[in-house]
Amino acid sequence: MKTDDGDSLDDLCLDAAEHGGPIVWLTGAGISAESGVPTFRGEDGYWTVGSKNYRAQDLATSSALAEMPEEVWGWYLYRRGVCRGAKPNLAHQALFDMERAAPDRFLIATQNVDGLHLRAGSSRERTYEIHGNVDFMRFGDGDPLPIPDAVPFDWPKGRTLGDAERAQMTNDAGVLARPHVLFFDECYSERLYRFESSLLAAQRCAMLVIVGTTGQTNLPIQMAEAAFHAGAPLIVINPEPNPLSDAVERTGQGAFLCGTAGEHVPRLVDMLKPALASEASTI
Ligand code: OAD
Repeated sequence: MKTDDGDSLDDLCLDAAEHGGPIVWLTGAGISAESGVPTFRGEDGYWTVGSKNYRAQDLATSSALAEMPEEVWGWYLYRRGVCRGAKPNLAHQALFDMERAAPDRFLIATQNVDGLHLRAGSSRERTYEIHGNVDFMRFGDGDPLPIPDAVPFDWPKGRTLGDAERAQMTNDAGVLARPHVLFFDECYSERLYRFESSLLAAQRCAMLVIVGTTGQTNLPIQMAEAAFHAGAPLIVINPEPNPLSDAVERTGQGAFLCGTAGEHVPRLVDMLKPALASEASTI
């Protein structure tokens, strides 16, 4: 059901408010596109353009890290610079606003490693970074630690890790840290990526809002299926149709808002806030 008229979206919001479960926001690279961070599979996407010397996907593996740590770190420090140069946009800010209005009915599960939700003010407690964060590193499976500020942010594309930076990112045992991002040849875990918590939230949600993703990775698809099978409406926000919006249009279980995150996320938040507030006042 493509809802150009607000009514049916209003009804979905009122039903979700009554349901009592969390509104879960599953976000992808598209929510940060208006902040100037490239997506992955778009025209100027990271996977489309690649790094200077390699197919970007070839750098996003633990085997590549073992073989060529200087190149892999060079790639992630370049992306860290791009993300740090970006600012949260209207959609990120609207979600911060939504969390403040109804914290107990709110959760973000983001595939983005850009840290823009947290920089918009969203809480770490209700923001699951399911693919990690490019501002963090860790020693093996240890706890994520911020990459030292001494490692420069304006990292040109193609520059590899030098001795000075390596010294900043090596522990007393002589181990070089690794980026705190999920590599293609790795599995999700609860401790590092909130795997089980994200799935559980999708199973219990009153509504799953899917913003700016092609749904190419495992956990997001499992979350969409879990919410769908639990009978929750899926709201897909994307300027382009994709398998998730097709499913919504085919089944009518939710809505496809065809447009940008900047356009539709603030609008949806403005519809949900009063619905949740009036529901809360009846309890
Ligand atoms: P993609 O690049 O696959 O998809 C980005 C989506 O955002 C596309 O569907 C676009 O149509 C949409 N989009 C573009 N501009 C938008 C805007 N202004 N507002 C809303 N949507 C917009 O990126 P992801 O789906 O996030 O994983 O990719 C998922 C994962 O694949 C990434 O987290 C990364 C990648 O491999 C890992 O690295 C583990």
